[in-house]
Amino acid sequence: MELPTTTKALVIETYNANLVRALRGMKIIEKPFPEPQTDEVLVKMDASPVNPSDIAFLRGMYNVNKALPAVPGFEGTGIIIKSGDETSENLIGRRVSFFTQDEGDGAWCEYLCLKKGNYIFLRDDLPVEQAACLFINPFTAYAMFDETLKSGTKAIIQTAANGQVGRFIRFFAKENGIKVINLVRKNEHVEAMKSEGESYVLNLNDEDFYENLKILNNDLKATMAIDAVGGEITGKLLNIMPAGSQVILYGGLSGAPVSMIDPLEVIFKNKILRGFNLGDWMKTVSDEEVERISNYLQTLFIQRKIETRIQASFPLENFYEGLRTYISNMSAGKVLFRM
Ligand SMILES: NC(=O)c1ccc[n+]([C@@H]2O[C@H](COP(=O)([O-])OP(=O)(O)OC[C@H]3O[C@@H](n4cnc5c(N)ncnc54)[C@H](OP(=O)(O)O)[C@@H]3O)[C@@H](O)[C@H]2O)c1
Repeated sequence: MELPTTTKALVIETYNANLVRALRGMKIIEKPFPEPQTDEVLVKMDASPVNPSDIAFLRGMYNVNKALPAVPGFEGTGIIIKSGDETSENLIGRRVSFFTQDEGDGAWCEYLCLKKGNYIFLRDDLPVEQAACLFINPFTAYAMFDETLKSGTKAIIQTAANGQVGRFIRFFAKENGIKVINLVRKNEHVEAMKSEGESYVLNLNDEDFYENLKILNNDLKATMAIDAVGGEITGKLLNIMPAGSQVILYGGLSGAPVSMIDPLEVIFKNKILRGFNLGDWMKTVSDEEVERISNYLQTLFIQRKIETRIQASFPLENFYEGLRTYISNMSAGKVLFRM
């Protein structure tokens, strides 16, 4: 196949905590066509979503900082068109989903080199929109839910319950007979989730929220909480949960330091606050396990038992509109860049 000599990519030139300024420092550039190394494949991109981690990256407030200018985007889907290793030419033509936080280009470009271990093979009947978002949130929800299940708890509490990870957690919980106390921050989401059949939904901003949470959890006795928000709510969750409970913190959406932890609850009731990071978790699981989970998740997507909500798609050139659309209403679903 005749390949071009240059290719388009979206780059960020300066990180800026002020997102509007960060977006102003982004532009489409023409760059030399990438050549895969021996341990890499070259992928022609189809689609990539915008996730909260991408926004944190653009703001320079994530644990991944690349040399600038950098191509953002931590996950996506495409088709392998070239292999850096002659013995792997059988991979050409395979569709893949990937997750990469390596130094080097991210997903918001037309062509991308990927290292072995950063991609999974896709079934033909998985729609491209779902394939684009197969890695970060489904695997994160799966991994964290698996830990809560192994803990033996009969109920969990989760924040950002109407976000995408939260929606997957709700599905896994239902499948396994685990009750979920869902915390959101808008009344419209309380109503929407109750109409979807959720029994326990509380608004973090209600005046009597904390009292109601205490009463509810005295009854349900969740000993695991999954928290994407941080700030005061993390401490409050830890305080109201029974002895031996754990809070898994996996996001910092509030932008605030964790606070309000009652030291007596930690000292005398053996409570634990811990983190979860997909990149680190991936290093702890074998390729066979990743493949098994991938097959399980793909089957759920294909059977339409779960889905990633997509609110809109944009060509890469319209990145400004795409990013603004996403940050103005994250609960409405992911924004995809289509290449
Ligand atoms: N650690 C990891 O490995 C890992 C992996 C995947 C995801 N994550 C993290 O998981 C979190 C959720 O990701 P996602 O893709 O599921 O999000 P999403 O679908 O884009 O939705 C974000 C959700 O969070 C809510 N939210 C935003 N800011 C909030 C705040 N200050 N207080 C309470 N709720 C808030 C939003 O509600 P509104 O509609 O009210 O704004 C929305 O429901 C993010 O922090 C992301 O970085 C971490």
